[in-house]
Amino acid sequence: MTRLLLAPMEGLADDVLREVLTRVPGYDHAVTEFVRVSGTRLPRRAFVRTAPELTTGSRTGSGTPVRVQLLGSDPACMADNAAQLARLAPAGIDLNFGCPAPLVNRHGGGAALLDEPERLYAIACAVRAAVPRSIPFTAKMRLGVADTARALDCGRALADGGVEGLVVHARTKNDGYRPPAHWEWVGRIADVVVVPVVANGEVWNEDDWRRCRAVSGARDVMLGRGAVADPFLVRRIRAGGEAPVDRDAEWAELLPLIGEFWRRVLAKVESRHAPGRLKQWLGLMRRNFPAAERLYAELRALKDAPAVSHLLARHGVPVLLAAA
Ligand SMILES: Cc1cc2nc3c(=O)[nH]c(=O)nc-3n(C[C@H](O)[C@H](O)[C@H](O)COP(=O)(O)O)c2cc1C
Repeated sequence: MTRLLLAPMEGLADDVLREVLTRVPGYDHAVTEFVRVSGTRLPRRAFVRTAPELTTGSRTGSGTPVRVQLLGSDPACMADNAAQLARLAPAGIDLNFGCPAPLVNRHGGGAALLDEPERLYAIACAVRAAVPRSIPFTAKMRLGVADTARALDCGRALADGGVEGLVVHARTKNDGYRPPAHWEWVGRIADVVVVPVVANGEVWNEDDWRRCRAVSGARDVMLGRGAVADPFLVRRIRAGGEAPVDRDAEWAELLPLIGEFWRRVLAKVESRHAPGRLKQWLGLMRRNFPAAERLYAELRALKDAPAVSHLLARHGVPVLLAAA
């Protein structure tokens, strides 16, 4: 049996999108965007802001477990915050060693640490000691900063430091998000560690999923942008079928999910930011759904949330319209 995980995506897959995407059955768990740890012990509300699911048993509405990701570079501070987070009973704690953002890297967090396997080891050890065994403890890494020279050392450092599983995003920091993903490196890392290794990167359809598993040798795969662009990818992988994809039928099924997304976005963010969130999701879905392209074309110019609600209603999305 394969496990399918929904990737952490800061600025894209927040609790709202996690809630909607996990309504399609098939994910074993999701991971939150990173919570940045630097210098102080974060209050409870900082964790709950990124992971509101902590208030509902660390699960989305459909019951999908949600693990919380931490990003930071100081072992003692990471351990202190992991202990604090552990008190909130997360479905798991994950460490981020993959973020390529310059601001994060300048402060020694994320992918920048991949030049320092010793530090990865120290962080993993410190966090391991602070987190009860009952809470799954994992890490997510890229292959390196500029090249793959230390990829195996990094994998070993994290596993030796006590993580129970690794997700490998099969690119270096400098690769950014440019294809291809070097899936063969997932297998190379898996060969030198004793913990399960999950493959990640550039899986957009069932065929990518098959090739990713074949090339990496990994049983389990984490889906990122592909899951956002195609909310039913997880289901089709699970079904294992070769049936032709009926995008129009799928779009009809998506309409209530888009309605739910919009309702939750309006409840969460300032009204002026809401249209941007919808454009972001539809922008990715345009790859797969002709109807998303048509909706996006009309949505593009709109900046006003009520106008967006009316447009969605015209396209068959179930939305509540304010009385005129
Ligand atoms: C907008 C965006 C935000 C991301 N934020 C995070 C993050 O907070 N933590 C993390 O570990 N990875 C993050 N990632 C990386 C993804 O989890 C994943 O590793 C990457 O997108 C490759 O998978 P994909 O090709 O299937 O999208 C982010 C990726 C994107 C596109």
